[in-house]
Amino acid sequence: MTPSSDGSGADQLEERRTTFLDSPDGRSFRVRGSWIPPRVGGFLVVQSDETRLLGQVERLEASGRDEHVAAGTIVALDGAPPAPVPSPVDVHRASDEEVAAAVSGTDRRLHLGRLQAAPEVPVGVVARKLNRHTFWCGQSGSGKTYALGVLLERILTATGLPVLVLDPNSDFVHLDTTVPGADPQESGPLAARDVQVLRPESDEHPLRIRFTDLSARSKAAVLRLDPVVDRVEYNALLQLSASFSEHGVADVLPTLHGAGTPEATMLAQRIENLGLLEWRTVWSDHTTSATDVLDRRPSATVLDLGGYDQQEEQLAIALGVLDHLWEHRSERRPLLIVVDEAHNLCPPEAETPLGVAVRDRLVQIAAEGRKYGLWLLVSTQRPSKVHPGIITQCDNLTLMRMTSRSDLEQLASIFGHVPGAMLQQAAQFRLGEALVAGPFVPRPSIVQMRDRVTEQGGSDVPVPLREDG
Ligand SMILES: Nc1ncnc2c1ncn2[C@@H]1O[C@H](COP(=O)(O)OP(=O)(O)O)[C@@H](O)[C@H]1O
Ligand SMILES: [Mg+2]
Repeated sequence: MTPSSDGSGADQLEERRTTFLDSPDGRSFRVRGSWIPPRVGGFLVVQSDETRLLGQVERLEASGRDEHVAAGTIVALDGAPPAPVPSPVDVHRASDEEVAAAVSGTDRRLHLGRLQAAPEVPVGVVARKLNRHTFWCGQSGSGKTYALGVLLERILTATGLPVLVLDPNSDFVHLDTTVPGADPQESGPLAARDVQVLRPESDEHPLRIRFTDLSARSKAAVLRLDPVVDRVEYNALLQLSASFSEHGVADVLPTLHGAGTPEATMLAQRIENLGLLEWRTVWSDHTTSATDVLDRRPSATVLDLGGYDQQEEQLAIALGVLDHLWEHRSERRPLLIVVDEAHNLCPPEAETPLGVAVRDRLVQIAAEGRKYGLWLLVSTQRPSKVHPGIITQCDNLTLMRMTSRSDLEQLASIFGHVPGAMLQQAAQFRLGEALVAGPFVPRPSIVQMRDRVTEQGGSDVPVPLREDG
């Protein structure tokens, strides 16, 4: 627009070309002017005679005619803090270098991917802020598990943080296998890590827990015993628990029947009726328990829960391991506990005593685990599918494609620190695009996740196509 030649309206045009900055607190900024604003999440450089700041836009408003207001957080500041009163400034989009300084971090091994809006700019993880709980969310097929694998590879490569993966879909059973053709600079360090994959069928690395190691409460959960309703049998269990450890699985029933008391007989019948002796998870006399492996704190321990058909067996393993970690919490040995498909292990409404016990333990770790170095990363399709006592304890968020407006609203209310307009963009995300926000990344960012170095198990089944025609 040019000022009119006769001078009429020139002042108004002049004013509309001027941009104003104000900053009530020196941390947030607000610029008003008639320029084309960047997207929410984008970065601006705002410059006056005294001040040069890099700001991330968190809110945009139209303020009449072709004026806009962009407001957000000051990320970097040179010179004097901006005055609390509006002052005229120049505004331009930040260069890739300036944005990279704000979001990439210094260790390229920690790069998760690249900014979706600026593909030259990598986005890095802040490793020392992984000591928080993390919520990982996106609808089915949005790329959650793949992206989670990217994060785990970065953690394995660049940090000493041990990871435990509860893997109900057998998606991480190849975390110890790098993909053919991977860059040796990347695959080398990963191949050097101690990654233990425990699977039901494996003789060398079996996935087991020992029933005898379980607490009385957890044994009762496996046996579906309520301490009050089933007090007689529960009491028999307490009395006879010691003798279980002295006998092999083949002796359990004879021992109970031989005890000669009606309570022991009832307990034996319960075990028979539940088909517990056929479970491979428990009663494993002399095999290595998953807890023995975990006590060594390998770089990663993957529990292939998906290898067990029965949900109750998956829960028994999870309970044995989580109980053990909780029992030893005062040792304060750091561990990132990753729960993929977390709705299986910590739904709001658990159905069986085992389900309740696992869920309650996870809720407890969410509430109190941080100070003991037990950090959760729970991944699921919808926020409502995981117990609120877990999500509300999460500081870090990764959000992949999600079209449901009510789910996005729920996330906005839980993760108040994430700009709402960035959350809304999740409805348009493509495969592998993720909003990452919270202390584990420098700034809330929309990232196109990088490629994996290890293989993902359980990828989608491709639709068979015809070669002819
Ligand atoms: N960034 C990516 N690049 C290439 N393929 C991907 C990417 N993310 C996911 N995929 C593939 O898309 C499919 C769905 O991803 P997945 O991670 O299993 O989704 P979700 O766990 O959300 O259901 C899988 O076959 C996976 O290998
Ligand atoms: Mg998945």
